[in-house]
Amino acid sequence: MTKIAVFFGGKISKHLVLVREAARKMGVDLDLVSYNQVCFETGENKVKIRSNIKTHPSLDELGTPSLEKGGFKMKDANDYDVLFFRTTGKHWEEVDLIINSIDNKKKEKGGKDIGDNKGGHKDRPYIVDPLVMYGKPSYACKAWQMLKLKEAGIDVPKSIYGSLWYLYEVMKGDHEGRPYKWPVIIKGSGGDRGTRVFKANNLEELERLVRDLRKSETEEGRRYMLQEYIENEGDFRILVLGEKVLGVMKRARTAKNEFRNNYSVGGTVEVANLPEEIKKLAVKAARVCGLAVAGVDVAFRDNDFKKPVIWEVNKGPQFKGFMKATGIDVPAEIVKYLVSLVK
Ligand SMILES: Nc1ncnc2c1ncn2[C@@H]1O[C@H](COP(=O)(O)OP(=O)(O)O)[C@@H](O)[C@H]1O
Ligand SMILES: [Mg+2]
Repeated sequence: MTKIAVFFGGKISKHLVLVREAARKMGVDLDLVSYNQVCFETGENKVKIRSNIKTHPSLDELGTPSLEKGGFKMKDANDYDVLFFRTTGKHWEEVDLIINSIDNKKKEKGGKDIGDNKGGHKDRPYIVDPLVMYGKPSYACKAWQMLKLKEAGIDVPKSIYGSLWYLYEVMKGDHEGRPYKWPVIIKGSGGDRGTRVFKANNLEELERLVRDLRKSETEEGRRYMLQEYIENEGDFRILVLGEKVLGVMKRARTAKNEFRNNYSVGGTVEVANLPEEIKKLAVKAARVCGLAVAGVDVAFRDNDFKKPVIWEVNKGPQFKGFMKATGIDVPAEIVKYLVSLVK
């Protein structure tokens, strides 16, 4: 029977619980694994996944023990057929430990291309998403995505990357010298759910923004991009699973002084459809970014379906709004997709 591990960091989310419930209903063996469960001992030199400490009532005990130590049941990555790293964020250290614990002989059989969504990895755990296997932490960032998507011939907002003061300086010039007209977007290379996307209508607002964000730049090492502002009456979220589009929803902001369409900042969601070329584009965008389970955010210049522009490709997308809008049983589809990888 196919064994699946879904890794997550921080608190367990409702989304993950839904995925586990879906698996249970379908009779699929799926463990939710917190990065807190990753451990090793130098004497043994083997990275293990221990069973849960009992204080975590929302999680199950891990199944069959491969080793008992201090009352903890131990498993390792090689006990699974599919490893789905749903969150990576602050957990690349653990991710890397797990990846490196996969038997080397097995590891060689994988593809090399980070966009290799197909895999065909018969003898080692199948790793989702590809970027986790072949990538670096920066591959999950928006800046890298802008470069990769552009390189693949996919339109993205025109962007300038650099330190905040540099971004300010380039907009300081006179009309001729400015790269973009007002307003402009300042977007954190990391960040999601609209939390690091800002709009500046003029130089004063940009200066204020830069001053406010400076601390996160110097103290947290965050990076930002300046982007042209693209007029839109909403945007679309396309959910991609491997080579397929699971569905599409339209999102639109409602508040008057809001420019972000994110569901998490109050945007409305409704089921939608898009031309086949756009769906193909979304699958390509996900592949280019090394993602198999992806939420692709797309808008259209001049509201023209011939002019798609991609905001970003989300790893481990949220799907509550998407389920509400489309009625699609996303957790079940994710489980089906994960199972299909080892067939
Ligand atoms: N260049 C832009 N021009 C206009 N609106 C933008 C631009 N970039 C982002 N937005 C708005 O901000 C929202 C969030 O941006 P996005 O890049 O998807 O980051 P997040 O990860 O926070 O969702 C988008 O859904 C869109 O409504
Ligand atoms: Mg987004």
